[in-house]
Amino acid sequence: MNPTPAADRLVWSRATRLLHWTLALSMIASFVTHEGGGRWHEWTGYLALAAAALRILLGLRGTGRWRFASFVRGAGVTLAYARAVLQRREPHYVGHNPLGGWMVVALLADALAVGATGWLYVTDRFWGTAWLEDLHGALGHLLLPLLALHVGGVVFTSLRQRENLAAAMVHGRKRVPADPAD
Ligand code: HEM
Ligand code: HEM
Repeated sequence: MNPTPAADRLVWSRATRLLHWTLALSMIASFVTHEGGGRWHEWTGYLALAAAALRILLGLRGTGRWRFASFVRGAGVTLAYARAVLQRREPHYVGHNPLGGWMVVALLADALAVGATGWLYVTDRFWGTAWLEDLHGALGHLLLPLLALHVGGVVFTSLRQRENLAAAMVHGRKRVPADPAD
């Protein structure tokens, strides 16, 4: 018998889900259209930059699950969580787990940096500046390993928790055990 009965609750608000998929799709669209820049690349890039900036603002000033302070944890807690994962005894988080929290920070930092360098590059002052073009390209390509880690983490945790976390980012509901870690 399961001693910790689980209940389904709305964990990701409609706004969280809308912002997530806007950011994800616009970042992927910017990457796909990157060859030589161009109008589609720039507009999908601006959309990604705006979505990332809004999410960061909400992370700093928002409430509840928006707040970085609610899911970005210190090195000690994060390392202890990573160790627990290796020993297959990690606690169940309802929001982002400590590794997932740092993943969110890395994705948002890259989105902000690649969007800002792209924007700078098309200004009169920096147009044609080789180092900025290289930096923008490198930050843009960094998206691929970050995305692989992010989706890998989602699949791994989905298997461990026996719950489809990607679907939860669509409908918003997650299983909440009686004794969640957060
Ligand atoms: C470039 C593409 C992507 C970016 C930039 C991105 C970024 C993010 C961010 C910033 C969050 C935090 C959400 C919040 O707290 O507001 C997040 C969470 C999440 N993302 Fe993505 N994402 C991307 C692609 C994807 C894809 C393709 C999937 C599908 C597998 C996915 C699944 C999720 C899930 C399930 C969560 C919640 C994780 C949890 O349960 O803790 N993401 N993502
Ligand atoms: C935020 C998501 C973005 C991603 C993932 C991204 C990614 C990339 C990548 C990978 C390249 C190729 C660089 C190379 O050939 O090494 C590129 C080029 C370029 N990007 Fe972006 N970018 C983004 C946003 C922007 C924005 C907001 C602008 C400007 C409004 C912009 C303007 C350009 C231009 C003009 C080029 C062509 C540079 C050249 O002449 O080679 N990008 N981008």
